[in-house]
Amino acid sequence: MSHRPPNDPPYVLALETSCDETAAAVTAGWLRTLASVISSQIPLHRPYGGVVPEVASRNHLTIIRPVVEDVMDRAVLNLDEMSAFAATVGPGLASSLMIGATFAKSLAWSLGKPFYGINHLEGHLLSPFEGRSGIEPAVGLVVSGGHTLLVDVRAFGDYTVLGTTRDDAAGEAFDKVAKLLGLPYPGGPQIEEIARERGGNAHHFGFPRSMIRSGDFNFSFSGMKTAVRYQLPDPDQEAIRDGEHLGHVLDNRTIADVCASFQEAVVDVLVEKSRAALRYTGRQKLAVSGGVSRNARLRERLETMCNEEGVQLLLARPVLCTDNAAMIAYAASHYLAAGADPTPLDADIDPNLALLSR
Ligand code: KG4
Ligand code: ZN
Repeated sequence: MSHRPPNDPPYVLALETSCDETAAAVTAGWLRTLASVISSQIPLHRPYGGVVPEVASRNHLTIIRPVVEDVMDRAVLNLDEMSAFAATVGPGLASSLMIGATFAKSLAWSLGKPFYGINHLEGHLLSPFEGRSGIEPAVGLVVSGGHTLLVDVRAFGDYTVLGTTRDDAAGEAFDKVAKLLGLPYPGGPQIEEIARERGGNAHHFGFPRSMIRSGDFNFSFSGMKTAVRYQLPDPDQEAIRDGEHLGHVLDNRTIADVCASFQEAVVDVLVEKSRAALRYTGRQKLAVSGGVSRNARLRERLETMCNEEGVQLLLARPVLCTDNAAMIAYAASHYLAAGADPTPLDADIDPNLALLSR
């Protein structure tokens, strides 16, 4: 039985398995997300303090089928009602990307439908436009665990990367500082929560704002992370050398101040670089995405900056900030609507795929 209402936009099923989330989503055109399922592996990786690729891929393989069945149940649609299938094909962990891409290609091949291989970064970049009439000219800020990008978005598929990180991504810096403090993975949400709940003083530590006035749109977060390590009051060198973390030697007040001060330093850099990119391009919108953009302090400070600059702030919905398949389905439905050629089924995944820039 077909559930498709007459004239409904084409349905797309997309899979996202680039890192430690096994996700599937169904969209109707780019206007509606019908269902989105995200199965997080965070508890599996937490004992190791980060994502273990072999554990991730084995788990993707085990749960991809139930996740797809679940999303189809929620969308109340059958696989043969899909107009196209899509999956993230990079960047990400090779052994993880392969699972989602192969599964989606197999569905496309067996049902005789097109397959679209989607760049994870384009998924993040476009996610703030979900629910709007289309992709509008904007400066895109993508801040995730693997990437920090400022992009001039002229239209769908027409991008110039203005700047990126020279070393660690913003989320990676959050995760590393959290690890140093003995906080569980992923560290970004932990740092935010401690800073807020324990009333950390954001000005207690003057951590550097690396490259804030570098005159370009690039970032560097690894020095900021190192500064945290060396500005802490008399860290117990022996404990650190033995593989311990500073959480054992710092009191709760100090930990809260480190969290608030570090968060403020990263936010300062992201806000000022975004302001500079808006002024440089003359764009009237800032579109913000990626896991770090869930951070409430960042959202609040970007709001203030955009008001000062007289531009509109488009924030991805919180469920679309961290990895998900709805953003992949959303991007794929734009390719479909644009009449783009499908991705050949023998095209490989690319762990280092870059955002196409001109
Ligand atoms: O976009 P995402 O799910 O995965 C990648 O594509 O990397 O981003 C995950 C990153 C992690 O580094 C995590 O610590 C960070 O986003 N993150 C946050 C917050 N929530 C997630 N960072 C700061 N504050 C948050 N609330
Ligand atoms: Zn991501």
